[in-house]
Amino acid sequence: MAGLETSLGSYDLSSPIIGASGTVGSLMEFQSVIDFSLYGAATSKSVSPEPWPGREPPRIAHGDAGMLNGIGIQNPGIEAWVISYGNTLTSVPTDVWGSVVAHDIDGFADVASEMTRAGVDAIEVNLSCPNLDGRPFALDPKLSADVVRAVSQATMLPIGAKLSSDAQPISAVASAVQNAGADWIVVANTVMGARIDPETRRPALSGLIGGYSGAPIRPIAIRSVLEIAMDIPELPIVGCGGVSNAAHVVEFLLAGASAVAIGSAHFKTPRVARSITRDLKRYMQRHGISSLTELIGAYEPW
Ligand SMILES: Cc1cc2nc3c(=O)[nH]c(=O)nc-3n(C[C@H](O)[C@H](O)[C@H](O)COP(=O)(O)O)c2cc1C
Repeated sequence: MAGLETSLGSYDLSSPIIGASGTVGSLMEFQSVIDFSLYGAATSKSVSPEPWPGREPPRIAHGDAGMLNGIGIQNPGIEAWVISYGNTLTSVPTDVWGSVVAHDIDGFADVASEMTRAGVDAIEVNLSCPNLDGRPFALDPKLSADVVRAVSQATMLPIGAKLSSDAQPISAVASAVQNAGADWIVVANTVMGARIDPETRRPALSGLIGGYSGAPIRPIAIRSVLEIAMDIPELPIVGCGGVSNAAHVVEFLLAGASAVAIGSAHFKTPRVARSITRDLKRYMQRHGISSLTELIGAYEPW
């Protein structure tokens, strides 16, 4: 039966399935639930220079078809993260990508440097966090490039830059981070969203605006992947947004992604990678495909 190997440029993956940041815990708690050997890589929850307490509740809400979260990237900070998890990383039976976040450029570089020392296999730069002016880095090509450049000076590891579909045009941010040293991009993080309860007149999230994820954002993420693949065909892409089955993975590959991250689907079906792996192999067999590379960017235009 065909294998599921793929690559992001010169970085090889045993599977196109990636565990998305913030949806597979610190990785350690999830190990008893998820078989990480089914994943090409698993991404840590984003870690900041200092501990971030996260927002007050409510910070998770129904978004009709998808979900809204306004966690505020709660995390223990890099020092405590290294103490708690640093020596457990090798027990994860796949590559570990360390997700870094900060409110300023030096903070990203410091966390990337500490994560590199701790032994992660790649750095993922979470650009969706607000800078000190309250505006997400990911919306600004120059700010995003400044962050990635600083991270690339702080680590020898491969770097993935996680973009936002809220950026217009997203290809401008993709091109800027590529020139600054990103080896691949992750497309994309949650889409900014909000809800208000008509009875209580209260916003669904304490922080008013949060991240919308799940099935409804898949067409948005697919559009982002298509735009970038068209404009910058040589830049490897990890697709992300609303994936819960093998057909969704194939959809992202056809749009131009080389790997696909699964996020919110883990909350409903923690072992979702098992059925995706099985069904992806069946799809390849049914269509006589021997390598996933045959699918990447291979959609048929009308
Ligand atoms: C509860 C929750 C927490 C998240 N935390 C992070 C995070 O810490 N860092 C990050 O880069 N993305 C984070 N994300 C975004 C996901 O990694 C993913 O990019 C997004 O949810 C879109 O994929 P999905 O539609 O499959 O969920 C989080 C998403 C959710 C739902």
